[in-house]
Amino acid sequence: MNLNDIAIAIENMEYVYQPHDVKAVRGITFSIQKGEFVGIIGQNGAGKTTLLKNILGLLIPTSGRILVNGVDTRDVTVAEQATQVGFVLQNPDQQLFAQTVVEEIAFGPRNMGLSEDEIHERVEEAISLTKLDMFRDSFPPALPKGDRAKVVIASVLAMRPEILILDEPTTGQDYKGCHQIMQIARGLHEKGRTILVVTHHMALVSEYTERTIALCQGEILLDDATDVVFSQPTILLQTQVTPPQITQLAMALPRELELPTAALTVTQLGDPILQSARERERLKKA
Ligand SMILES: Nc1ncnc2c1ncn2[C@@H]1O[C@H](COP(=O)(O)OP(=O)(O)OP(=O)(O)O)[C@@H](O)[C@H]1O
Ligand SMILES: [Mg+2]
Repeated sequence: MNLNDIAIAIENMEYVYQPHDVKAVRGITFSIQKGEFVGIIGQNGAGKTTLLKNILGLLIPTSGRILVNGVDTRDVTVAEQATQVGFVLQNPDQQLFAQTVVEEIAFGPRNMGLSEDEIHERVEEAISLTKLDMFRDSFPPALPKGDRAKVVIASVLAMRPEILILDEPTTGQDYKGCHQIMQIARGLHEKGRTILVVTHHMALVSEYTERTIALCQGEILLDDATDVVFSQPTILLQTQVTPPQITQLAMALPRELELPTAALTVTQLGDPILQSARERERLKKA
């Protein structure tokens, strides 16, 4: 593996919250290649947010280390890192401070010292991607929760970061909003960006990510291709995760039907079922 292809490398990392000595994550070792789309799952308190905050440099590992694009998070400031790593925190309200949506989105690019033309272009692109046009002059804190999250996402997109880290970005979103956000992430992934998303929506993990890391009580329980992770329901139960219903159905169907056992989406299971039904129909007629 070429070291230049690694976006995030975590080496035997542990984080302990003081003063009560809460060991939130421990023994964490993994790396994420540039351009991967990774889901992080696990029950409440499993350590997902703590892990992300360590990657962002908002927290510094108690032991072990984290390299982002080859640089130890101890050696850069959070502000320096923010130009490469965009993040949406679990509570996006902590990230809102401007008077209007446009000003909120323009803040990052302006801070990067870009020209007014470039700032304008990036703001318009971010507004269009997040479909926030009707709110451009609104006061961000006054928007509904789902739209507040979108404003934060837009302000991160305007920085055009190489790595995008989202901590439960779909909380408070309706069905359409969830998919809009995941589609934005997919669009960036297709442009080669690295995406890390924490969510409790297993259907979103299965539909959008390529790889899934399941955390359990601060440790890695599973780290594999998403279909491989979801085909281990008994292990996932240790961290209170159940695979999407479609995956459960695929696994429950009799083997002799010769259908995919690790289906992640309705299409992945539905298409072969339709195909086999049509084939049976054809044979009946023949
Ligand atoms: N500021 C803090 N001080 C002390 N302990 C903390 C702090 N923040 C989190 N913890 C503890 O660290 C552990 C991991 O918490 P973390 O927030 O990382 O979990 P999580 O997987 O993000 O959970 P959730 O799904 O609820 O967001 C939990 O036991 C939690 O109580
Ligand atoms: Mg969390």
